[in-house]
Amino acid sequence: MFSTPFVLTFSLLLSLPILFLLAPRILPPRLSSVPISPSDELEDLSLFRRASATPTTRLPSSFSHLAASKPKLKIAFLFLTNSDLQFAPLWEKFFRPPSAKSLYNIYVHADPTVNVTSPGGVFEGKFIEHAKRTYRASPTLISATRRLLATAILDDPANAFFAVISQHCIPLHSFKFVYHSLRDPDASTQYGIRLQYKSFIEVISDEPRLWKRYVARGRYAMMPEVPFEDFRVGSQFFVLTRRHALMVIKDRRLWKKFRMPCYREDECYPEEHYFPTLLSMQDPKGCTQYTLTKVNWTGTVNGHPYTYKKSEISPELIQGLRESKYSSSYLFARKFAPDCLAPLLKIADKVIFRD
Ligand SMILES: *[C@@H]1O[C@H](CO)[C@@H](O)[C@H](O)[C@H]1NC(C)=O
Ligand SMILES: *[C@@H]1O[C@H](CO)[C@@H](O)[C@H](O)[C@H]1NC(C)=O
Repeated sequence: MFSTPFVLTFSLLLSLPILFLLAPRILPPRLSSVPISPSDELEDLSLFRRASATPTTRLPSSFSHLAASKPKLKIAFLFLTNSDLQFAPLWEKFFRPPSAKSLYNIYVHADPTVNVTSPGGVFEGKFIEHAKRTYRASPTLISATRRLLATAILDDPANAFFAVISQHCIPLHSFKFVYHSLRDPDASTQYGIRLQYKSFIEVISDEPRLWKRYVARGRYAMMPEVPFEDFRVGSQFFVLTRRHALMVIKDRRLWKKFRMPCYREDECYPEEHYFPTLLSMQDPKGCTQYTLTKVNWTGTVNGHPYTYKKSEISPELIQGLRESKYSSSYLFARKFAPDCLAPLLKIADKVIFRD
């Protein structure tokens, strides 16, 4: 009845949409983020185990008014970068005051495939040895942050605060101001007695894109460990207490979920979800729910925040960036184009480090 070529063509045409429908079920899905290799995972696990086993008794996380004789608390600055530390000279000035000495440590996780140049100075010898390749919008950024936390925990028991910084971040205040701000959140005091320091981490539950981000690995992929009601979003630039840093590197349960690759790259920012979700599930009251790193999301392009240009650097910009409705002031800001360095250095002493 029908000629063979016609039947062939017809069935071929018919099969196309069917193939299209079935393909996602038959073929392995095109995964947008790079999975982490088992050997990297094992190496990380051994580092995290060692760090988790560090005794915490020497520096309890709560300090009463009687604790004046305790050793000085330090801030661990965790630089996470995949390019040169363009603002190193500004940070150098930030860390330079003699009063800052012995109150901080620096750790740099530099993507080993990029050949980041050490800026020397305070950064000399601060590149951590366990650094691995990082990719944007992938769980490799969570791993890199956890490596920094573990390394800092192991390195110095006096590290009490852990601040994540990127190569695009700048300080908005002097070291002294930053140090006192972290140690003095009003919320940590009750009846005049300091109970416990809090982590400065943004925790948001009512973001419109949250559902899309939640199902980015598949509709039920996060269950049962992370029900949607517990899924949070927040900036990956935070300051954690030692207690929370330990909580993060001890976690296996949530990591198992967040390390899974996504189907859609534009909805996959695991580093913005893992930390706020984990901490708000385990200790919501121990978190301020806001970050100390200012970022300008107006006119966002491709998931990138606004990048300030050289011509925009002024004392007024710095004053404006400091303004916060949550804390007395923002302490850090991002992102800035590399050529902002010269004008920033020019106003460093008179504006940025004067507070
Ligand atoms: C990294 O940069 C240095 C200096 O520019 C160069 O000598 C070295 O060969 C580079 N290494 C890699 C792996 O590209
Ligand atoms: C934020 O970025 C926009 C451009 O998207 C810019 O016009 C505005 O001045 C920036 N706001 C501040 C406070 O710097």
